[in-house]
Amino acid sequence: MFNLILFGPPGSGKGTQSEKLISKYGLKHLSTGDLLRSEIARQTPLGLAVKSLMARGELVPDEIVIEMINSALDNNPQANGFLFDGFPRTNAQAEALDKLLNQKNTEIAIVLALQVSEQELIDRLLKRGLTSDRVDDRNEEVISARIAEYEKKTAAVAEHYRKYDKVKYVNGEGTIDEIFDLLCEQIDKKLKLA
Ligand code: AP5
Ligand code: MG
Repeated sequence: MFNLILFGPPGSGKGTQSEKLISKYGLKHLSTGDLLRSEIARQTPLGLAVKSLMARGELVPDEIVIEMINSALDNNPQANGFLFDGFPRTNAQAEALDKLLNQKNTEIAIVLALQVSEQELIDRLLKRGLTSDRVDDRNEEVISARIAEYEKKTAAVAEHYRKYDKVKYVNGEGTIDEIFDLLCEQIDKKLKLA
């Protein structure tokens, strides 16, 4: 199994690059943001519980996302590996993920961290907000709140994996294909070593 985390702030290109990576490497895409938006769209009790937090750009409670990931891992026993997008976002989530993977005799192989300037993040998300149905892209206040949550709670997750020398930083500015090539280079290096 080859499991990777695509790490980075809101708007850094995690979703865009995930689509290309899962198709090239045959991985199962697990995006907690997509899973939560699907709960909201289906108006499930969980969706109703997280809707306003997400609209404000705040993180939802750890227990909720950890349980979602736990079920997703259990529901995909045949997967060659998982690409985690937007998870883990706190140290508690990282520790829970390590434990869940350990129970399945596997682990995170690599954490690819996309680096993008704050102004570029804001520009990308405001631009998407003009056309998409993502309510958290609609105004700069919510976008700033998402970036602030990232700085306060999520950035430190990279430290958790740096202890195990698993983090590779990748320039997340440029064309989508240029960034994809840089990500693939890191993955291929890791696969060769495995
Ligand atoms: P989530 O869905 O994870 O969103 P996010 O991290 O805020 O970031 P985005 O999905 O907006 O950006 P991305 O990095 O995927 O970039 P994308 O490829 O879309 O989380 C949403 C919310 O859910 C959170 O705020 C929280 O409330 C909750 N949540 C989710 N997971 C959670 C967790 N684990 N714990 C607690 N709460 C959780 O690209 C962005 C835009 O840029 C697109 O328009 C794209 O076309 C464009 N773009 C991409 N690449 C480029 C490029 N190279 N050049 C120019 N434009 C580009
Ligand atoms: Mg995304």
